[in-house]
Amino acid sequence: MSVSATDISIKKVEKSRLSEVDFSNIQFGKIYSDHMLIANYEDGKWKQPEIMPFHNLTLSPATTFFHYGQAIFEGIKAYKGPDGEPLIFRPRDNWKRFNKSAVRMAMPEIPEDIFIEGLKALIKLDENWIPASEDTALYIRPFMVATDEFIGVKTAEKFSFMIITSPAGPYYSKPVSIYVQDQYVRAFPGGIGFTKAAGNYGMSMYPTQEIKKMGYDQILWTDGFEHKYVQEIGTMNVFFVIGDTVITPDIKHDTILAGVTRDSVLALLREKGMKVEERTLSIDEIAEAYKAGQLKEAFGTGTAASIAPIASLTYHDVTMQLPPVETWETANYLKKTLADIRYGRVKDNHNWVVKA
Ligand code: COI
Repeated sequence: MSVSATDISIKKVEKSRLSEVDFSNIQFGKIYSDHMLIANYEDGKWKQPEIMPFHNLTLSPATTFFHYGQAIFEGIKAYKGPDGEPLIFRPRDNWKRFNKSAVRMAMPEIPEDIFIEGLKALIKLDENWIPASEDTALYIRPFMVATDEFIGVKTAEKFSFMIITSPAGPYYSKPVSIYVQDQYVRAFPGGIGFTKAAGNYGMSMYPTQEIKKMGYDQILWTDGFEHKYVQEIGTMNVFFVIGDTVITPDIKHDTILAGVTRDSVLALLREKGMKVEERTLSIDEIAEAYKAGQLKEAFGTGTAASIAPIASLTYHDVTMQLPPVETWETANYLKKTLADIRYGRVKDNHNWVVKA
């Protein structure tokens, strides 16, 4: 199917809600822009996408995804450029990853035209919802759910793809305290750890609730066999600066999400000529480096979180306290360089930024 922005039917709101929004105090995921996009899949094909006012859905209680979780999503951000124009960061990479998630979850792949042209048309229409201040953006949430009205366990035949958007500030307002998890497991080889399936987040709620009660912000997951090789933090990929080398877990075992921010960070570090390693990394190696005074920085990367410094890592009864974030060279360099590219302040040599 080939869709151009002019094929997308657009029904606009009668009255925008924009004036009700306090842009000086935006929290993540609390308010949604005026419009949304919907495209339905039925009889083996995608129907024409429609943009319409953001609204509640009416669904049968027997709808498949309520019961069996055939649901996937993505996270993308649009930034306000120097002339107020919307700049979307690497949406094609998210589209590709969305389709990898779709295949693994037995859902139909979505054509590039619907995903990208639909996204661009939606962002253009709601461009005034993109906040302007530093560290803010319009968070874009494409997602797909199985919509058969059937509670027998089988692959669905009907699906809905939707995009909603939400003005967003920083996901974490301060450096995060991390608990290294070696009891519960997020992902095994052969599982769905590499996908953005809803279930990957649903399964993390109980362990995260437990560590929050203990005063930590997030979990660093370890492998399911030996419980010592670090994988990712629930909401982001993870990087460690040990000595003069930046290390991140490799993604070859399908247990870790191939983050678009992760990929951007790796590219920027390699261009700067820094020593970078994507490899198996154990919590013991991190603890040894900490004891030797070699654990210089640790940070998460993700669309929502961007570059999120880690304040401390707790593993069993040992808490590794990282040096003050102001002294970190790598994370601060990455945060500034990525922001300059995303907000269109420097030349985008990578073709990462897409105009709406
Ligand atoms: C994102 O970074 O976009 C995510 O999807 C992770 C999470 C905060 C929901």
